[in-house]
Amino acid sequence: MEMRAAVLEKFGEPLIVQDLDIAPPKAGEVLVKVKACGVCHTDLYTASGADPSGYAPCVLGHEGAGVVEEVGTGVTSVKVGDHVVTLFSPECGECIHCRSGKTNICLKIREQQGKGFLPDGTPRLSRNGEPIRHFMGTSTFAEYTVMPEIALAKIDPSASFEATCLLACGPTTGIAAALWKAEVQKGSTCAVFGAGMVGLGALLGCKLQGAERIIAVDLSPQRLELAKKYGATHTLLASEDPVQQILDLTEGFGADYTFEATGRVDVMGQAVEAARMGWGLCTMLGVAGKGEKLEIIPRFLITGRTVQGGSFGGAKGRTHVPQLVDMYVQGKLDLDGFVSHRMPLDDVNDAFELMKKQDGIRSVIQF
Ligand code: CU
Ligand code: ZN
Repeated sequence: MEMRAAVLEKFGEPLIVQDLDIAPPKAGEVLVKVKACGVCHTDLYTASGADPSGYAPCVLGHEGAGVVEEVGTGVTSVKVGDHVVTLFSPECGECIHCRSGKTNICLKIREQQGKGFLPDGTPRLSRNGEPIRHFMGTSTFAEYTVMPEIALAKIDPSASFEATCLLACGPTTGIAAALWKAEVQKGSTCAVFGAGMVGLGALLGCKLQGAERIIAVDLSPQRLELAKKYGATHTLLASEDPVQQILDLTEGFGADYTFEATGRVDVMGQAVEAARMGWGLCTMLGVAGKGEKLEIIPRFLITGRTVQGGSFGGAKGRTHVPQLVDMYVQGKLDLDGFVSHRMPLDDVNDAFELMKKQDGIRSVIQF
């Protein structure tokens, strides 16, 4: 079948929207008609060529939501017409990691996904017979995508695609970290470093858990203003010694929970130091540059702080994303405010430009 897709042809150059061929789903796979897709920093990072594991040509995009159009043999968990969110982090439920209940890092399709292929080691995308690789196992900057069923979260069809596509990445990372990774307790004090998409999600999560004080830290006064909308009770400028200010706010002890959502190792260090002596739990969510190291003074650990981290905030995609969609439908999660720009696929490069200028929160491609 022919479809429109945005192809990363060369690193550092704009994506080129063009016609590609997409093959039907094989066993265990599903063809999804993409209805909305957020444009995320990870897409830009790979397009720029900065990602050492990136490859081209490929179809970027990973924050997708859409409708099941066709299923391959053996697919049982979704059917034609179901609404789904695309997951770059699958949940097979069968591998040793999934069965442990301790992690969301499913092992089932990891290796081939990292190379740009579906689990059988081949792509479904091509152009005049030339194979084009997938990205993050999702490739949702396209009218259609073929994905393994274990990488699709079936969701309430009453929710808008524009809102639910965001739950494929940024906001879920922050919300899940607060709800299920850190399990923030009612009445606690939380500090969130970074008020981008992930950090705003973490603020929302802390608020949902009933945290009493929620401190947001960011370099940008505008972002901090926004943070107040998503639950921040206190805002601190990152340039004004936020660790000392957090200690001052907490009788010198530090916050019960800290979250890092910037990907900067110096900020990660601050998140450790701002966590409370005795039981402070610091959760790392940002992705640092390759080869970068985080230095921690051991005294911070021996005096009772715990440091943890989680990809996708530790969210188990097929289990947790539908729960977050339900919370959105019930009016408990404000996702609509995150969408600042809407555009057709042809204007995907404009979304990258907006991101570089830090204009708005999230651009969503609508199909
Ligand atoms: Cu993303
Ligand atoms: Zn698994």
